[in-house]
Amino acid sequence: MVRSRAVTLSWQGKDHGLAAVDACARGPERTWALSGDGGRLLEGDNLACLRSLAADGTGTVTLAYLDPPFFTNREHTAWLRKAGAPRGSARTRVPAFDDRWRDLPSWLEALGSRLAAARELLAPHGSVVVHVDPKTSHYVRVLGDEIFGDESFASEIVWRYRRWPSKTPNFQRVHDTLLRWRRDPRVAGRWNQPYEPLAASTLATWGTTKQRAVFAENGRRARSSSTDEPTPGVPMGDVWEIGVIAPVARERTGYPSQKPEALLERLVGALSNPGDVVLDPYAGSGTTLAVAHKMGRAFIGIDASPVALETTRARFVALGARLAECAPPALGVATA
Ligand SMILES: C[S@@+](CC[C@H](N)C(=O)[O-])C[C@H]1O[C@@H](n2cnc3c(N)ncnc32)[C@H](O)[C@@H]1O
Repeated sequence: MVRSRAVTLSWQGKDHGLAAVDACARGPERTWALSGDGGRLLEGDNLACLRSLAADGTGTVTLAYLDPPFFTNREHTAWLRKAGAPRGSARTRVPAFDDRWRDLPSWLEALGSRLAAARELLAPHGSVVVHVDPKTSHYVRVLGDEIFGDESFASEIVWRYRRWPSKTPNFQRVHDTLLRWRRDPRVAGRWNQPYEPLAASTLATWGTTKQRAVFAENGRRARSSSTDEPTPGVPMGDVWEIGVIAPVARERTGYPSQKPEALLERLVGALSNPGDVVLDPYAGSGTTLAVAHKMGRAFIGIDASPVALETTRARFVALGARLAECAPPALGVATA
């Protein structure tokens, strides 16, 4: 029998790259937690923190969302208000995180090792979502297939947004790509079916009630007939139109690259249940953690940037919840 051949990404020094990343990793520097173990926030390099969490127990996370720096080769700054300052007061600019790399392989090595470490924490019914842009999405797709196995690939979601129009001699980039892999494709994955509204033409023809397919004797679908049951809409597709965060939106924190809560609500709602654990190793301003908390999920967030952690803690205060600092061993998170 001819064995099928795997397609892999290759770059000079690939086999040494992941080991080099390992060598410089350190465990969580500081830890905060919500009372009742509803959530944890770890400060430190996410690879070291993921390894520490794995040493404590694997298979506990239902959804991991990874939103790494996008290989912009820039330093990113945040616009923050002083702690406790009222809405509308002036913001100051502070460095938030560094997205400068030697080359694309360095970026892929960093992401690949973290993706592999996050995989270890997933429950068999769990999945991972990696949020990237079209500059790197094709590489990440192949890298993820190598790590998870291409049979574990579940979806490519296109997040389409509106942005200020700019005239360039090209089609304007108006989407990001979210790639999803399942931990174990032989196990029923966590799935709560989301719906989207019916198309205008369907509404005009059929109204807002459910349709039932009518099949001919040969088993082919012949026509549809109306029922009296209201329809929840059509099962959600993989192209999502969700607005970017408006400059004056309440949820805007001033942290760079903050993602809209509506995007995370869709992922968390579809791919986890209340009580499940949601992991975000590139937590940033804490969007995933805030959404998980509001939707009754437990969370683990990691970030290396003190500005990100401060922003996340302030976000929880605004939600009426407090992330209190505690010693890592007391939480059962082993240091490296
Ligand atoms: C694109 S931002 C995430 C934004 C986030 N999704 C939000 O909505 O605010 C990426 C984050 O990853 C963090 N980060 C990058 N490399 C890291 C590493 N090796 N360990 C921990 N955090 C890291 C950065 O500090 C930054 O906050």
